[in-house]
Amino acid sequence: MKLKLAERMENIKASEIRELLKLTEDPSIISFAGGLPSPELFPIEEISKIASETVLTEGKAALQYSTTEGYHLLREKIAKERIKGGFLKPEASKILITNGSQQALDFTGKLFISPGDIIFCESPTYLGAINAFNAYNPRFIELPMDDEGIIIEEFIAAIKKYPNAKFLYTIPDYQNPSGITLSIERRKEIARLSEFYELPIIEDSPYSELTFEGDMLPSIKSFDEGGYVIQLGSFSKTFCPGFRIGWIFAEDDILQKYILIKQGADLQSGTLDQRIIANYLKDYSLEKHILKLRETYRIRRDVMLDTMDTYFPKTVKYTHSKGGLFTWVELPSHIDTKVLLEEALQYKVAFVPGSSFFPTEKKNNFMRLNYSSMSEEKIRDGIIRLSQIISKYCEAAHTQEKKLIKV
Ligand SMILES: Cc1ncc(COP(=O)(O)O)c(C=O)c1O
Repeated sequence: MKLKLAERMENIKASEIRELLKLTEDPSIISFAGGLPSPELFPIEEISKIASETVLTEGKAALQYSTTEGYHLLREKIAKERIKGGFLKPEASKILITNGSQQALDFTGKLFISPGDIIFCESPTYLGAINAFNAYNPRFIELPMDDEGIIIEEFIAAIKKYPNAKFLYTIPDYQNPSGITLSIERRKEIARLSEFYELPIIEDSPYSELTFEGDMLPSIKSFDEGGYVIQLGSFSKTFCPGFRIGWIFAEDDILQKYILIKQGADLQSGTLDQRIIANYLKDYSLEKHILKLRETYRIRRDVMLDTMDTYFPKTVKYTHSKGGLFTWVELPSHIDTKVLLEEALQYKVAFVPGSSFFPTEKKNNFMRLNYSSMSEEKIRDGIIRLSQIISKYCEAAHTQEKKLIKV
């Protein structure tokens, strides 16, 4: 069948890695590939009670269409309880409920990107954002990071080189995939630069509350005096992703544009889901639930990093995330982690090769490992298996290097 598709579909391709990762559905495979919250921590009994009460007591409204902006009590709860600190007092009127923050990424592409437009992002960045933005044919400019996130001098140089860039997309907290956190000084600086250069900042914050060490950091939005920062939030990582409920927090004129886009896309997010979450937030403590997540994920991160410290070859580097779900591994530059994945699957262990997270310059010697969704025992076992393959590849790379030096 020959279909005359839109040009944008040329940018939307099935990835070979996704095909490989389908194999991880085999339960005997220890998969560090996903980015899933731990399902045994979902508050199933509480949700079951709240869901049935919501239908019984509010059914006529809960099963009906509602406003595009979202359920007002949920928007109030988000403004008051989920958005913390800062200059600006978040008000419910600045919140738009979306179907996860993934929908907000798609809307951001629709709102800002015409074909060929420049957008800035971290290098590496979230694969789902690359896919969402790619549908609108942008040109990505990747900004390098160090241990404190985006390097400000590089950001300024990029703004000067590309003064018409549409926005910076950043994940400041425990970044997906690198686990890196943007320092407070740089958050302030990025907010200041956004106002000075009138450059919107898309601050994607699904992990901000999943901190393992100390308090959560103030957002870039909390330093946003110019109103150029658009913050995306989500209940996926702090509650349950199956609800598909997230939000956009932005100043009025920008938010109105997002609302128009949402009207055209799906009219509204599910009324029942929004009310169930709002009632959960009323009757139970999400703070307590998040404390449990933090504690469990911190222990799992420690097991992963300790096992890597013991078994990985010393030439391998990895990040020590202070929260979130991931660590990011750098292997010697000769090693292609896509090739390594094929062998890892035979050892029944999986990860995501790093090349997927670079929108332009495909670097092949990285991998992303997730520690949130598995028992400590499995994490240890999987990392030991992975270390055996990695050691083999590192040795082969080392021998090859020696041969080259001799020649
Ligand atoms: C950085 C980032 N943004 C957005 C999303 C999408 O999350 P949601 O479930 O809220 O759509 C994810 C999911 O993994 C993510 O890591």
